[in-house]
Amino acid sequence: TNGVITIDPGFKNTGSCESAITFLDGEKGILRYRGYSIEELAEKADFLEVAYLLIFGHLPTKEQNDKFHDDIKAQSIVDEDIKKIIEAFPKSAHPMGVISSLTSALTAFNPSSVNVNSEEDMYKSVVKILGKFPVLVAWTYRRKVGLPLDYGDNSLGYVENILKMMFSQPNACYVQSEILINALDKLLILHADHEQNCSTSTVRVVGSSHAGLFASISAGISALWGPLHGGANQAVLEMLESIKLDGGDTKKYMLKAKDKNDPFRLMGFGHRVYKNFDPRARIIKKAADEVLGNLGIQDPILDIAKGLEKEALEDSYFVDRKLYPNVDFYSGIIYRGMGIPTDMFTVMFALGRLPGWIAQWREMRLKKEPIGRPRQIYIGETERKFVPVENR
Ligand code: SDX
Repeated sequence: TNGVITIDPGFKNTGSCESAITFLDGEKGILRYRGYSIEELAEKADFLEVAYLLIFGHLPTKEQNDKFHDDIKAQSIVDEDIKKIIEAFPKSAHPMGVISSLTSALTAFNPSSVNVNSEEDMYKSVVKILGKFPVLVAWTYRRKVGLPLDYGDNSLGYVENILKMMFSQPNACYVQSEILINALDKLLILHADHEQNCSTSTVRVVGSSHAGLFASISAGISALWGPLHGGANQAVLEMLESIKLDGGDTKKYMLKAKDKNDPFRLMGFGHRVYKNFDPRARIIKKAADEVLGNLGIQDPILDIAKGLEKEALEDSYFVDRKLYPNVDFYSGIIYRGMGIPTDMFTVMFALGRLPGWIAQWREMRLKKEPIGRPRQIYIGETERKFVPVENR
């Protein structure tokens, strides 16, 4: 501090706003969306109901819920020109780069910053992005695996339709799996919002310049890409893969994670806020056991994950530092069990976090928050005179 400005690296002790959307208690492992516990919502609500709750502040009535579903379905056609953008990407392009670009492309159709004071305009933008984003996610996946794009089926539920758009086969009729529908619905609910995490703070700061909702969401996707944040679920699987290639020796990686001279961290463990346990991890662990148990998946990667989880929970270094498995540890396992490629995991995280980003963006604009523009403490050179290049 210089007496006027205090530096707070990572904003660990800085509150950026007042918000009525999500409540976390890191000590007690509490997570509530608009006052409802994550445990109740994950068990009793579906993803679009939770999206409505986060964005508009209350659970929808039956009529509001039905209208919300219908209005989103009415927005689930993406302009055919967007296909040209997708086809322009080499198959090797990282899906997070693709989905971020596609979301920016949608900005071209929605350049202006929506009139947040008009409930109707805001509602239209919300159903538009909730209708189109899953299509972009599915098309990003189809492009990566070389399958023709699937336009979905509006007679299906929201999450059911996402699975169909992703996993239907052009030469076979698609059979839905209730287990996968429920697991994905729960995963998306658990990821829907998490107060001022890195990507949500990004959406708020970008939106504070009155950039449009789609542009702000695209910025949030880029922030989520980082391996310390949303990219952690992909990093978990890459870590498990390397442990498997290394003979499955989890003890060696536990030692690496504790070695102060080794930058290696156990991906999927620890959390900035939850200093005891991540309540989402408890819920998602159950879903992971169901998906893997019911789908009869035998996968050495998942056996290594279970072994790592057991060892970390019994290791004093981890227990003393409250480094427990977080939501990303288990979501990576479920997505692998669902056959989703590792570099698509963070795209699935973005799909879940979308309602939270929208809700936080809307709250920031409705409260007319000022543009995000922090100060600094200057530690560079004092004034010096320019020297022409021939004299340097
Ligand atoms: C998400 O913010 C959110 O809400 C994020 C998120 C959301 O929903 O949006 O919850 C999603 O991003 C979950 C976190 C996903 N990230 C990972 O799984 C990556 C691995 N985790 C670590 O990088 C780390 O735990 C963080 C980044 C998550 C949290 O870091 P902190 O709070 O800054 O912890 P720290 O660096 O202060 O570490 C405290 C101690 C240190 O040891 P000591 O110096 O005290 O001896 O714990 C150690 C760290 O070295 N430590 C780890 C570790 N995480 C912390 N040691 C080994 N492996 C780890 N994963």
